[in-house]
Amino acid sequence: MTRFLVLYYHFLPFTLVLGADLKETPILGSQNIPRLLTEEITDGFKYQVQQNHSVFFKDEDSEDLYVGGSDFVYKFDMDHLQLIENITLNPTGQDHQCIQESCQNVVTVIEKFNDNLLVCAANGLKPQCWDLSPSGPIPRKESGISPFIYSQNSLTLVADGDLYAAAPLGDDGGFLQFRRIAGNRTNVWMHDSWVSDPTFISASLVKRTNDPDNEKMYIFFRERNSDHNPEADPWISRIARVCKVDEGGSKRFFQNKWTSFLKARLVCGFPEESLYFNRLQDIYVLHAENWHETRVYALFTSSWNSTAVCIYSMEMIENVFENSSFRGYEKDVPQPRPGTVRICFYFGVT
Ligand SMILES: *[C@@H]1O[C@H](CO)[C@@H](O)[C@H](O)[C@H]1NC(C)=O
Ligand SMILES: *[C@@H]1O[C@H](CO)[C@@H](O)[C@H](O)[C@H]1NC(C)=O
Ligand SMILES: *[C@@H]1O[C@H](CO)[C@@H](O)[C@H](O)[C@H]1NC(C)=O
Ligand SMILES: *[C@@H]1O[C@H](CO)[C@@H](O)[C@H](O)[C@H]1NC(C)=O
Ligand SMILES: *[C@@H]1O[C@H](CO)[C@@H](O)[C@H](O)[C@H]1NC(C)=O
Repeated sequence: MTRFLVLYYHFLPFTLVLGADLKETPILGSQNIPRLLTEEITDGFKYQVQQNHSVFFKDEDSEDLYVGGSDFVYKFDMDHLQLIENITLNPTGQDHQCIQESCQNVVTVIEKFNDNLLVCAANGLKPQCWDLSPSGPIPRKESGISPFIYSQNSLTLVADGDLYAAAPLGDDGGFLQFRRIAGNRTNVWMHDSWVSDPTFISASLVKRTNDPDNEKMYIFFRERNSDHNPEADPWISRIARVCKVDEGGSKRFFQNKWTSFLKARLVCGFPEESLYFNRLQDIYVLHAENWHETRVYALFTSSWNSTAVCIYSMEMIENVFENSSFRGYEKDVPQPRPGTVRICFYFGVT
């Protein structure tokens, strides 16, 4: 593995211009008007080889920006707009079934975890993670963090010293679910039956300053609709919730499984007209000092190719999780209420 330091003097006015400069305001249902424009970049950084996939990680505590591509991680200094490090990450264990691009070590994950930089890559259909230490990349043993091919669905979240990920365990994209993979708490995962053909969009820990043990993780995804009515959209969008301190059940019951998993439908549309945007595409969580005021901005598309943004407050979301009836339990909600930590049942909230 080679590793060296170079200084580059051209780079990076990544200026993003918001909609204010647009001649036409985006309207509900428009398809051709961009929401976000980039200013013309006069002197950017050019990849030496065209990259079909890049991942970015900006360290919150410094001006370091990491960019991962095929077989490399670049580190840029955002203060001086310079490339300061070029880390080569060659594939270590290509699967014999890989062909061309899939044989490369396409970086899919860059996160800060336990004071190290965690980098994962598809590694020629044999996903692998490394800790990037000053003396070089140190391989890690976990699986289920990087997908096998960069285009497969996956997400990662580092929260409160633990690493969470949703990535397939099969090279066909199968066994995709949300798990706690590493950290100080027990590893836990889901029952496959809890979700149906999911696409994970985002996951977020919502902090509660005065009540950290009661903090929850929210997972946003879309999945196959169990309503097979021909009128129904085949896809439905979801928000799921697990407790941060959930370490799974006892040896005999729900060992290494989430015991606090609940999911609810994420509804966006015009109920009076039965017009719904069912296909979640992106999520931004705007955290507030008081968690009740934390807001979730969700971008949806519809079966007729229109888009919409719906905004939810954490207060609304928690009210649904805490106070709704459960599917299949019209009147008598079991006590203690499911979704409370260490209560080992799974229910879909209607
Ligand atoms: C990007 O995709 C093209 C077409 O599939 C392929 O020829 C090329 O090698 C890919 N580039 C990289 C860096 O993987
Ligand atoms: C990074 O290092 C690799 C391997 O030494 C080299 O081929 C590549 O040109 C370098 N990239 C840049 C931007 O210097
Ligand atoms: C996790 O455990 C390690 C070693 O036991 C400890 O140093 C670290 O502070 C712990 N992290 C958290 C967030 O509790
Ligand atoms: C929506 O867009 C897709 C892809 O562009 C296209 O195949 C499909 O026909 C469109 N559907 C409608 C209802 O316009
Ligand atoms: C549940 O409903 C009760 C009564 O309406 C309300 O006081 C409480 O705040 C609700 N819980 C949440 C988490 O919103």
